[in-house]
Amino acid sequence: MSLPYEKPAITRLVSGLMNKFGNRPAADRLVRTHIDGAPIERLVAEHGSPLFVFSERTITRSVRRLKQAFAQRWPDTVLGWSYKTNYLGAICALMHREGSWAEVVSGMEYEKARGLGVPGDHIVFNGPMKPLAELRRALAEGALVNADHHDELDDMLAVASELGREVAVGLRLNLDAGIHPQWSRFGFNLENGQALAAVERMARSGRLRLRALHCHIGTFILDPEAYGRQVAKMVEFAYQVQERFGFVIDTLDLGGGFPSRNRLKGTYLPADVAVPPVEDYAEAITAALQRSLRPGHRPRLILESGRHLVDEAGSLITSVVACKRLPDGTASYVIDAGVNLLYTATWYAFNVEIDRPLPGACEPSLLYGPLCMNIDVVHERVQLPPLPRGTRLVVGPVGAYSVTQWMQFIHYRPAVVLVGEQGQVEVIREGEDLSDLTRRERVPERLRQG
Ligand SMILES: Cc1ncc(COP(=O)(O)O)c(C=O)c1O
Repeated sequence: MSLPYEKPAITRLVSGLMNKFGNRPAADRLVRTHIDGAPIERLVAEHGSPLFVFSERTITRSVRRLKQAFAQRWPDTVLGWSYKTNYLGAICALMHREGSWAEVVSGMEYEKARGLGVPGDHIVFNGPMKPLAELRRALAEGALVNADHHDELDDMLAVASELGREVAVGLRLNLDAGIHPQWSRFGFNLENGQALAAVERMARSGRLRLRALHCHIGTFILDPEAYGRQVAKMVEFAYQVQERFGFVIDTLDLGGGFPSRNRLKGTYLPADVAVPPVEDYAEAITAALQRSLRPGHRPRLILESGRHLVDEAGSLITSVVACKRLPDGTASYVIDAGVNLLYTATWYAFNVEIDRPLPGACEPSLLYGPLCMNIDVVHERVQLPPLPRGTRLVVGPVGAYSVTQWMQFIHYRPAVVLVGEQGQVEVIREGEDLSDLTRRERVPERLRQG
């Protein structure tokens, strides 16, 4: 039987409404009633809304998988937990329990790591600003300090003189690994000879010994082969400095940058398709090491993976405060968490789940926060059924960079809980109150009322 001719036509799809291509995503695919066995409703009843919830199981699973991927291929691999990604004490403690060192980029983070019991020689100190006192402490305690610029080399030389001994340090490189835009603000450029000149300066000083090379090519790197190119360049440079100046590189620190299963705005493919498995990164890195290292030379590898390890472990429960239609007809919702808590909404299109099945067709909806600022948009366009007031939403992944970049702006910062492996719920940061706002303020007597 032949089918009747159908004239080709381009039809605008109104997503959410029924059409001949189906009706996806269906509302029931968005439902999330529990986080690791803890009911959303109970979490909110006990700890309020909004609420950050971290999953211990998800963190341990991702750390162990990353460690395993490298243990099989390059046993001397160390993870340096990137504190700025999430420096909540409990999260750092979990990372350290799993064997991670600390990677810090400020005196504040350094102090926090030491306070959590991390020994100095298990700390990597990066970043463009390391005041002399912080540098002095880190070098005296045996941290791996990666030099960022010539002025810091001056300071390192001063500290070495004070200590009256040679000090072993690392050098941060920036290089072209095919990732654009290239991160070129940090460290010394490899291709234009800056890095070699810095090493020459160290060698001439007689007080600084180069033992490690560091490079962080960027973040959310979707191409594992970029790391292969990075490794090849770093190893070649290591042999160059060995031949010219006699420094033997015992550590290659590859920075962070492995992606999480989040979705960058503007990307077409979902994370499940776009993000390669972490084993592909391990393979690209270790294959490049095998290809470029000389026989018998097996430097320690440091990975400063941040978002990859913690992003999926974090969710934000938030509640619908009000439902509105914008003048152009867009369904929109005021929710109790905004960019004060989710600074990362600037570049991520988060997943949004609802806490119960709801009737009605999905339609593109706008979620905005409580800030009374036009920029306070958590999601510009997410498929949602009509949401009654009070609906709980689970927004994720938000485990990386949210609870470090959140702001105390207009509203108090909410509580953070950790759901343990046995389903136990523990507060790891209390919600703020007025005392957090005023504790360090001083109102001069003459300005006081009454
Ligand atoms: C030096 C350094 N190491 C590690 C990281 C962690 O990066 P990511 O979260 O992309 O793994 C960063 C982030 O910018 C960084 O600058």
